[in-house]
Amino acid sequence: MTNQRLPIRPRRNRKSDAIRGLCRETRLSKESLIYPLFIHDKPTNEPIDSMPGCMRWSINGILEEIADANSVGINSIVLFPAIEDTLKSSNAEECFNDDGLVQRAIREIKSSFPEISLITDVALDPYNSDGHDGLVSSDGSILNDETLEVLCKQSLSHARAGADIIAPSDMMDGRVGAIRNSMDEESYEHVSIMSYSAKFASAYYGPFRGALNSAPKSGDKKTYQMDPANVKEAVREVMLDIEEGADIVMVKPAGPYLDVVATLSDCIEIPIAAYQVSGEYLMIESACSAGWLDRRSVVLESLTGIHRAGASAILTYYAKEVASWLE
Ligand code: PBG
Repeated sequence: MTNQRLPIRPRRNRKSDAIRGLCRETRLSKESLIYPLFIHDKPTNEPIDSMPGCMRWSINGILEEIADANSVGINSIVLFPAIEDTLKSSNAEECFNDDGLVQRAIREIKSSFPEISLITDVALDPYNSDGHDGLVSSDGSILNDETLEVLCKQSLSHARAGADIIAPSDMMDGRVGAIRNSMDEESYEHVSIMSYSAKFASAYYGPFRGALNSAPKSGDKKTYQMDPANVKEAVREVMLDIEEGADIVMVKPAGPYLDVVATLSDCIEIPIAAYQVSGEYLMIESACSAGWLDRRSVVLESLTGIHRAGASAILTYYAKEVASWLE
């Protein structure tokens, strides 16, 4: 049997590279990528055991890494500090020290790369001796409104140092409004807020907590981060953050939550970012180093999926490498 009368043949649109190119619905581009970088207050760079291929950079090291990333087209980075144990405390006050590690790094980075969009994480976990994103009360519960005051001080200190975008990742209620308010009062109305709005209580953050030595000392984060089973609640969180003044909202992790990204992309007007987190990175790295997956194809496919679901910005530890592939 040859030449069936089959008027509709989807394969015609896939018959060559050129035609596939014409029919492609989404394109991953380096402008979409945000590169997360870890810093520490030591003179040399140090590999991160829990995230092979990633480093804790010294301030000089991070400047070199940003120059390198920038040369292949990465224009946005987000900073995460590994803080010395001796500087951690139960009130996390090191987080708003104008001469703290993050604040010094922001000043150095902005003076060398004024055109880079510099995003800073706002939450207490790197600074909190309890390892939680908020202040912990004597009964072990996470204090909401008291935490907001500290987050506002932290945000202001990042804004003063020159951050372009403040990214609260703590999941306290009301933090976007509180931060917007305090920044506006001090005339930092031009500083943006990218809110981790739909941040799930995920087991995929494990390797990151190893990188910063920031795992909670007791309990878990389920009273503030979201239940992985929920999507309506994600819409609610996002709507609240938009009302409170968020400029960009984030879904985190990305890969296991693409339905959340897609649902939001149908119902909101502001840009959506998604974070391919440390556990997603580690799964790909492990499978590839064992020889079971083709690294480059699988990385590009994972990011294309996140983009296709509706994220206009993607935070990924692969940002620099992917940008060089997309040259
Ligand atoms: C903490 C924070 C976490 C991540 C980003 N900011 C960890 C957590 O909430 O415990 C995780 C990122 C990753 O896993 O790559 N505020």
